[in-house]
Amino acid sequence: MSKPPVKRAKRQPGKWLLGLDHLYKIKTDQLGFYKALEAEFGDAVCLQLGPYRNWLFFHPDPIEDLLTRQSNDFIRFQKLTDVVRQWNGDSLLLAEGEAWRVRRRKVLPAFQTKRLPRYGAAAVAHAEAFCASLSAQANGGAEVRIDTDAAMAQLTLDIATATLFGKEPVSNGAEVERAIQVLSDTAFRESTSPFTLPDWLPLKAKKDKLWAMGVMDTLVTGLVNNRLADIAEGGTADRGDLLSMLVEHHEGDAVAIRNDSMSLLIAGHETSGALQSWIFALLAQHPEELDQLEHEIESLLGGRSAVFEDIAQLKRTRAVIEEALRLYPPAYALFTRRAEANVSLAGVTIRKGDMVQIVPYTLHRSDRWFENAQQFKPARFLDAPTWPKYAYLPFGAGPRVCIGQNFGLMEACLVTATILQQWRPKHIHGPLHPEAKFSLRPKGGLPMTWEKRVRAV
Ligand code: HEM
Repeated sequence: MSKPPVKRAKRQPGKWLLGLDHLYKIKTDQLGFYKALEAEFGDAVCLQLGPYRNWLFFHPDPIEDLLTRQSNDFIRFQKLTDVVRQWNGDSLLLAEGEAWRVRRRKVLPAFQTKRLPRYGAAAVAHAEAFCASLSAQANGGAEVRIDTDAAMAQLTLDIATATLFGKEPVSNGAEVERAIQVLSDTAFRESTSPFTLPDWLPLKAKKDKLWAMGVMDTLVTGLVNNRLADIAEGGTADRGDLLSMLVEHHEGDAVAIRNDSMSLLIAGHETSGALQSWIFALLAQHPEELDQLEHEIESLLGGRSAVFEDIAQLKRTRAVIEEALRLYPPAYALFTRRAEANVSLAGVTIRKGDMVQIVPYTLHRSDRWFENAQQFKPARFLDAPTWPKYAYLPFGAGPRVCIGQNFGLMEACLVTATILQQWRPKHIHGPLHPEAKFSLRPKGGLPMTWEKRVRAV
């Protein structure tokens, strides 16, 4: 699609004092609010949000500048990073400037392509275990009804602990999953509130947060310390997991290893779980796409387990994943950035201290960049893109692009192919609404009926 030039940004001061009406809308209907802003203002708008001027860009040109050429002039909004730092500590996700560059160099080796097949094997093994658990729940029947969102959260947690720590599912998996949910809700609540109450207040939300931080710290610090102690006693250094690489490149620095392990576990797990839920939800709604996908998978695998090398052939599976990421990007908004200098962008001056927001969800659903943008059409990803590069940002872009992008795509491809070999997502019970919290999840879960596949012999 051709790209019209960017129109100059307008100001939208807000009806209530300090734009508190905007903040209210962000808390209650964030996605609807951004969509309405794009419809009214077009390419860019500047809102008053509490004490901050907050810019939103809906045109790929200024977004490209912001994420690439001028990325050094922006850091992540401190209120958000301060909240996440409470449990992540200083880590790749939160670091800035030279400290971030050093960290990124140290964490990157964990994601080298040559390491991916082993992570992929863990993903397939856990997806097969999920299929077996569906069979057990179906108890000889052909159908089973489960909350697919909860199940995908658990499955991707098992994959994350296996690939990060080389560990079988943790014994308190349900508790860990709940703790991650609590921290995710806390991050959203505390970062979008005008002020944060102290943790010592006897409130349920505070009690839950401290409990969740305790569960995650016990898990991650425990696994890291055990590994370090084992290596000190002569144990194998490289066990093919992400932790081995963090230990090697952080040169045994226990705090740095713990913090980066925590941020990889949380950042990687929640997004992957959400993506998997959206893939199956969309396939349940589009049986004709599901048929084509099953045909691709069956023709290639013929009943054997998928392996990393199959991914290149699973073109339609990959297209479904990319289309799911377009319609329901788990990272529906990128981290809010703060300008560190006056920056000229799209004909306006962003002043030092101003905030800037980029919302992939709004970009991905704009008819200006995607034909029939609201429709699920995986085939659009089978040919060369017809949209501008910076209109499709499920993993961000520029130097701070998602470090787990290839890992996440590989996992989604192998998990989808493995599950669809045995089970068919058949029917969603109730309406399907995206809820924008820390990531984009189906509101109220994803109650769904699965049907056992009968393989043609
Ligand atoms: C479907 C899966 C995933 C999606 C949609 C996703 C999305 C994103 C996005 C949009 C960003 C950039 C945020 C910004 O610029 O504001 C990001 C960064 C990041 N992601 Fe992912 N991610 C996924 C999987 C993973 C996995 C599997 C891992 C690790 C195992 C991971 C770890 C990270 C980290 C550490 C960063 C920060 C990188 C930096 O600042 O240098 N992600 N992710």
